[in-house]
Amino acid sequence: MLYGNQALEKLGFLDGINEVIATTEKGGRVNAAPLGIIKDGDSLYVRLFSGTHTYENILENGWFVANITHDAWLIAETALEDLTPEYFMRREDLPVLKDAEAWALFRCDPFASDIIIAQVLLEKGEFFRCDFRACNRGANLVVEAAVAATRYMALRTDNYYEELMKMHRIINRCGGPREREAMDRLMDRVDSYSHI
Ligand SMILES: Cc1cc2nc3c(=O)[nH]c(=O)nc-3n(C[C@H](O)[C@H](O)[C@H](O)COP(=O)(O)O)c2cc1C
Repeated sequence: MLYGNQALEKLGFLDGINEVIATTEKGGRVNAAPLGIIKDGDSLYVRLFSGTHTYENILENGWFVANITHDAWLIAETALEDLTPEYFMRREDLPVLKDAEAWALFRCDPFASDIIIAQVLLEKGEFFRCDFRACNRGANLVVEAAVAATRYMALRTDNYYEELMKMHRIINRCGGPREREAMDRLMDRVDSYSHI
């Protein structure tokens, strides 16, 4: 087990926005959703938009677990769907994704508003494996597409939909079967939502 902010780099957190999957809990129900942890030198914070389970749970409990993963499929899936319980395990009595390469418990002191910008502190974390691979434009774009999809769902502006169509074409060309499936699932959800 690693402790404190000095373990940030060993757990994979570098300057810039670190995209992780945050696991949180309320009434025994575990929630997983992508979240950006912003590191600017020694300053570490999150921006939380209201209206999500992650926002509610962090506001209530003052903690979240950051799951570090390269799996773009999982990032896209958690952006728009709930994961079933078999995706999770418990470590130190915390909800952790079974497929995480590392996890870290962050604490913060949020206050209720439309958008929470909270300083966060790394309490402890654990490293399972270093999942290195060649850079794949398809995988990177699946993460980008998941961001566009959540924004499209929230704001319903056509330019996000156009971006998604463009990314879909590139993912089909550059991604593998898992990236193509992740994008197809995103588009299915976006399309079914568009018809509401
Ligand atoms: C890569 C990525 C990063 C995201 N980062 C944030 C973030 O930093 N803050 C936030 O409030 N939402 C962020 N989102 C959007 C939430 O994950 C999204 O609204 C999600 O549906 C919330 O799910 P929940 O209701 O289960 O918490 C991000 C989405 C993606 C795909």
